[in-house]
Amino acid sequence: MSRPYAGRHGLGGRGEKRRRRERWLAQAPRDFVLKGTATAKPIIEVENLTKKFGPFTAVDGISFTVEKGRIFGFLGPNGAGKTTSIKMLTTLLDPTSGRVLLDGNDPAADQAGVRRTFGIVFQDPSLDDELTARENMEFHGVLYKVPAGLRRKRTEELLKVVELWDRRDSLVKQFSGGMKRRLEIARGLLHHPLILFLDEPTVGLDPQTRNHIWNYIKDLNRREGITVFFTTHYMEEAERVADRVIILDHGRIVAQGTPLALKRKARARSLEDAFIRLTGHSMRDEDASSVDSMRRIKRMWRR
Ligand SMILES: Nc1ncnc2c1ncn2[C@@H]1O[C@H](COP(=O)(O)OP(=O)(O)OP(=O)(O)O)[C@@H](O)[C@H]1O
Ligand SMILES: [Mg+2]
Repeated sequence: MSRPYAGRHGLGGRGEKRRRRERWLAQAPRDFVLKGTATAKPIIEVENLTKKFGPFTAVDGISFTVEKGRIFGFLGPNGAGKTTSIKMLTTLLDPTSGRVLLDGNDPAADQAGVRRTFGIVFQDPSLDDELTARENMEFHGVLYKVPAGLRRKRTEELLKVVELWDRRDSLVKQFSGGMKRRLEIARGLLHHPLILFLDEPTVGLDPQTRNHIWNYIKDLNRREGITVFFTTHYMEEAERVADRVIILDHGRIVAQGTPLALKRKARARSLEDAFIRLTGHSMRDEDASSVDSMRRIKRMWRR
């Protein structure tokens, strides 16, 4: 796949990127470096990432790496710090402390370059309802400076993949929740990113649509080698699709590894059981809160 304008090696090119990575590795704590350079090349590197909102610590010194081409699940109950972490990984929120590298690039040094390396599907819907599907794609392509010819070609390609080509000229406000989510995913891929960040991509969707969206994402990962980093609190979904997972609770990593390894470690039959054993509480305790239900209902109405 060609990414002629992606500029993902930063302004200084490959040499500068390597030097920056070496500098960063030289400064990183030893155990982190040893863990983080396991086999394949990491495309996401996070060290001691922390976010405080006033006196409250939402993300509390998390460190991890994600290898290129993985489907990586970032799991945790409501308020665990998943969205806050994704926002820091995608330059939308400045960390209080700690570091992030995406494909070797530091967002603090080259925000625009780093932004071109990823696509993002937000937790809350972010499409313009008053525009058509095609116009939403077009607008995004202009923002990312995708040349006009390529923009049209990819828009057609992607809308066909998510089965919305026939509805390309319909206003988004006439779409169902599943159609909007599919359009958001297509839009996130328009500039051919290396990494796709998905914050609760399937929340509020019916099982058939969830399945459809995941099949599409898995296929994309297989065909294009795109690294997928997603959050969810649907444990069974994560168990089905993720190569590796992190379980986050109260802003801290409580476990990480393959779903199978975590189940073995916790002597649990499912990832959900493993979560309960590892954290001492159920994911659903917090799911059931009235505030959460209201947020979810509001979100679904906005779709
Ligand atoms: N801008 C903010 N100001 C103050 N507190 C915040 C802010 N954003 C998030 N928080 C708090 O940080 C914590 C983590 O929030 P975050 O949205 O990252 O959780 P999450 O894991 O994504 O949860 P959910 O599953 O509900 O989406 C929560 O307690 C939240 O109230
Ligand atoms: Mg969230």
